[in-house]
Amino acid sequence: MSVRIAIIGAGIMGADHARLVAEDVPGAVLQVVCDASPERAKQVAEAHGAADAATDPFATLRRSDVDAILIASPDETHAPLTQAAIAAGKPALCEKPLSQNSAECLGVIEAEVARGRRFVQVGFMRRFDPSYREMKMALDDGFLGSAIMMHNFHRNVEAPPSFTGQMAITNSAPHEFDVVRFVLGTDYHAISVFQPAGVDASRTGAPVFMVLETQAGQLVNIEVNNNAAYGYDVRGELVGEKGSVFLNAPAPSRHNAALMAFERYAPDWRPRFAEAYRLQNKAFVNFVRTGLFSAIAADAWDGYCAAVAAEAGVEALEAGGRIDIRMAERPSLYRR
Ligand SMILES: NC(=O)c1ccc[n+]([C@@H]2O[C@H](COP(=O)([O-])OP(=O)(O)OC[C@H]3O[C@@H](n4cnc5c(N)ncnc54)[C@H](O)[C@@H]3O)[C@@H](O)[C@H]2O)c1
Repeated sequence: MSVRIAIIGAGIMGADHARLVAEDVPGAVLQVVCDASPERAKQVAEAHGAADAATDPFATLRRSDVDAILIASPDETHAPLTQAAIAAGKPALCEKPLSQNSAECLGVIEAEVARGRRFVQVGFMRRFDPSYREMKMALDDGFLGSAIMMHNFHRNVEAPPSFTGQMAITNSAPHEFDVVRFVLGTDYHAISVFQPAGVDASRTGAPVFMVLETQAGQLVNIEVNNNAAYGYDVRGELVGEKGSVFLNAPAPSRHNAALMAFERYAPDWRPRFAEAYRLQNKAFVNFVRTGLFSAIAADAWDGYCAAVAAEAGVEALEAGGRIDIRMAERPSLYRR
């Protein structure tokens, strides 16, 4: 039986998910494309052969011809929509973040615990990226010895004018908060956040430099620079006692010209993480079909952990200094 999926939010990410579901995820059917804009819903539904287009996300997720939901609407809609999916008894793949508010994440967790099972997979797709997987494998196999440090760089070409340093922490950095926890297999203990002085005031919104201390004692730095100008660039290096692993971005070709050799950068995240999105969505469809939650996918608890780190990060940005990261107790449903 095919899994009939409704996509909610058909913007940049939703349209990409619609394409993946329609063309690249065996066993999935693009049933409904729902967007607050009827024109956008219709356009994406037609482009990818969906059976229907809609504008009401809550009515869409309750439809009897919809088995599972893929939420790609703005951040503030994620918690209410995942709650509605759980109430309707339907699995949901929710784009990151689960919520920017950790209390809302706990609400989703409570709803799952009350029903005794997981419904929500959070779209922290970097866990499926082959370069992060190899990095994690090198640590788990003992090749690196114990992990000591992890360096992370998250650069976008240009942030929208209203994008603040706070948003770099609550909207961009959750990817790093999650994937570092995933690779290192530990939680955070504290966070400090800095912003560079002396940059052009009209472009100061994005750059933040974070230092996290893990419960296992490792140091983690995360640079988020959403006005990097030259391309979308995510880098990372895990440093262990016996060696290090550096992420390689997929580069299909190398150009030679004008006495130079160079590779091109993509303008945004979609080409860099294309394989990760595909594998993530396949894992979600497998979860819907079999009831077995992927061993590596992020769940609602992981969404909560990223939100707690982001909230502490915003506090550290505003107050200065080092902020402890305190978490609720993990319910047994989420122990792996
Ligand atoms: N995983 C990733 O790498 C990644 C990358 C970018 C964005 N995101 C996340 O994906 C989500 C969408 O981001 P985007 O860049 O595609 O945004 P976008 O603005 O391009 O698209 C959002 C769409 O949602 C629609 N919408 C707004 N409210 C709605 C509602 N209540 N019901 C239905 N549709 C609604 C809008 O009309 C718009 O078409 C965000 O939460 C963002 O944080 C994830």
